[in-house]
Amino acid sequence: MSARDEATPGADARPGTATGSGTGARPGTGTRPVAASPADPTIPDRVCVIGAGSSGIAACQVLGAQGLEYDCFEKGSQVGGNWRYRNDNGQSAAYRSLHINTSRRLMEFAAYPMPESLPDFPSHFQIAQYFDDFVEHFGFRDRIRFRTEVLRVVPGEDGAWEVTVRDADMGDEGELMTHRYRAVIVANGHHWDPRWPEPGFPGEDAFAGERMHAHAYDTPDVLEGKRVLVLGIGNSATDIAVEASRIADATFLAMRRGAYVIPKYVFGKPLDEVQARIAGRIPVPLPIQRTSAAAMLRLSTGRMTDYGLPEPDHRLLSAHPTISSELLGRIGHGDIAIKPNIEAFTGGRTVRFSDGSEEEIDLVVYCTGYRIRFPFLAEDLVPTADNHVPLYRRVVPPDLPGLFFVGLVQPLGAVMPLAEAQSEWIADLLNGETVLPPPDAMRAAIAEEEGEMRRRYVASKRHTIQVDFHDYLRLLRRERRRTEGDPVVARRRGGLVGRVRELVGGGAS
Ligand SMILES: Cc1cc2nc3c(=O)[nH]c(=O)nc-3n(C[C@H](O)[C@H](O)[C@H](O)COP(=O)(O)OP(=O)(O)OC[C@H]3O[C@@H](n4cnc5c(N)ncnc54)[C@H](O)[C@@H]3O)c2cc1C
Ligand SMILES: NC(=O)c1ccc[n+]([C@@H]2O[C@H](COP(=O)([O-])OP(=O)(O)OC[C@H]3O[C@@H](n4cnc5c(N)ncnc54)[C@H](OP(=O)(O)O)[C@@H]3O)[C@@H](O)[C@H]2O)c1
Repeated sequence: MSARDEATPGADARPGTATGSGTGARPGTGTRPVAASPADPTIPDRVCVIGAGSSGIAACQVLGAQGLEYDCFEKGSQVGGNWRYRNDNGQSAAYRSLHINTSRRLMEFAAYPMPESLPDFPSHFQIAQYFDDFVEHFGFRDRIRFRTEVLRVVPGEDGAWEVTVRDADMGDEGELMTHRYRAVIVANGHHWDPRWPEPGFPGEDAFAGERMHAHAYDTPDVLEGKRVLVLGIGNSATDIAVEASRIADATFLAMRRGAYVIPKYVFGKPLDEVQARIAGRIPVPLPIQRTSAAAMLRLSTGRMTDYGLPEPDHRLLSAHPTISSELLGRIGHGDIAIKPNIEAFTGGRTVRFSDGSEEEIDLVVYCTGYRIRFPFLAEDLVPTADNHVPLYRRVVPPDLPGLFFVGLVQPLGAVMPLAEAQSEWIADLLNGETVLPPPDAMRAAIAEEEGEMRRRYVASKRHTIQVDFHDYLRLLRRERRRTEGDPVVARRRGGLVGRVRELVGGGAS
């Protein structure tokens, strides 16, 4: 059976078979374009996808459609990752009341629109069902190895990638199996490893009340009848503070800086749909986006200080958006009191804030974000310190040919269509339809993008993988047209006409 035949959706999937334990990294310092995968015929012509969350299933669908062989390993017993409530992978952050905050039309895969019967902002149950339907529709569920955890990914001496897996139900008793692949796509998610304040607050270990991270929050019964302090002003904090305000004895929302709280709807439409009408068609310079978004927010909502929230210390679109249509109303009802950051836990249940005020607190919910981690990759291979992962276009480590990352973006917009577009680019690279720039050029582009991110965003570990939804889609389309002077690729992409189009086409598609 040819590779193309075997990749037919629904065909039997057999993990690559050869085993080995090479560990050597291959830093590429030259300036030649990086090959997307080795040409060595002894390396199995298969791709490994790690994770079957929304990013992993996007990659599987695209690989299958582009005739590429793959195995997908998933730790849990179902697809959907974060969107599978009480996922038996133990990693989902979904709480009972969670709904998406990016509207469904912006979140759906291009290859499989969400049904019109769904609301604008479906619940996690509906989103998980959509992902199930997606996998059924394209017929690749049997290509996913469920309850199989990837433990180790190492580059072999010969250019193959060696992936060691274990039956998740067997734990330490499970047999280790190593498979070889021409490429590995990492889609293990970045919202599963809770980040607690670093360093912790003075006196917190002696606090007599309870402390939990938003990742462990599920249903509001844990808030009932308590004096609850929610820390942070991201989307977890606003959702949990709103829930607490209805059931807790008292709710305090503490933050170290202010945020613009953006409504889900403006002018009767989901905000991101309104924004997409122009930004989806043509690139809109940031100052214009800022001015129009600020005007829209001022008209629809007013100033943050009107509600007793601190004035943000940054401009709009310089922080990951905090989206809530409920928070400001709950503050207005007097059911949420605003506090500055925690200063210290001063004994018993007393919490002192940085303005010197103190409150008796029964439960602190830390909504302080997540760490990016790849437990199966050596830190010196792919560094993750302070959530900085040096990837070209947020997908390609310049010195590790054949390794790719999908879904490792924090968009002003939804992740799923971006993961789908990243997968299409990867498939083109693997099929030789396009090329990467030389490693030096990729490293320079990474440095430039990091510089831009630093200049634009509030300095915070939550702002290391930010992208603008529409601009990023345009960027990926441009990458897919790259021929970099490679005559074979240029011919494949339409000869002289394709080359000229690439040169004059520039940014937007
Ligand atoms: C509370 C919350 C709400 C959110 N709301 C939105 C929203 O409204 N819109 C939006 O676009 N984004 C939202 N996000 C961002 C979220 O990260 C994405 O929606 C989406 O879940 C990313 O999908 P993913 O597949 O990359 O990661 P995940 O959904 O985390 O999936 C990763 C998968 O990889 C598997 N895996 C991990 N490690 C291994 C391993 N070693 N071996 C095998 N399998 C492994 C996991 O079991 C899991 O199934 C939200 C995040 C949170 C925390
Ligand atoms: N669909 C939904 O409705 C929904 C709900 C929840 C979450 N989400 C998504 O899930 C992801 C994670 O969101 P999140 O809210 O959990 O995390 P987050 O976006 O990283 O926000 C963390 C918050 O905690 C603050 N913080 C971090 N460390 C702190 C410290 N030491 N002291 C005081 N404050 C500290 C941050 O402030 P700084 O800005 O100063 O760092 C920020 O306000 C995001 O993509 C979000 O959009 C979506």
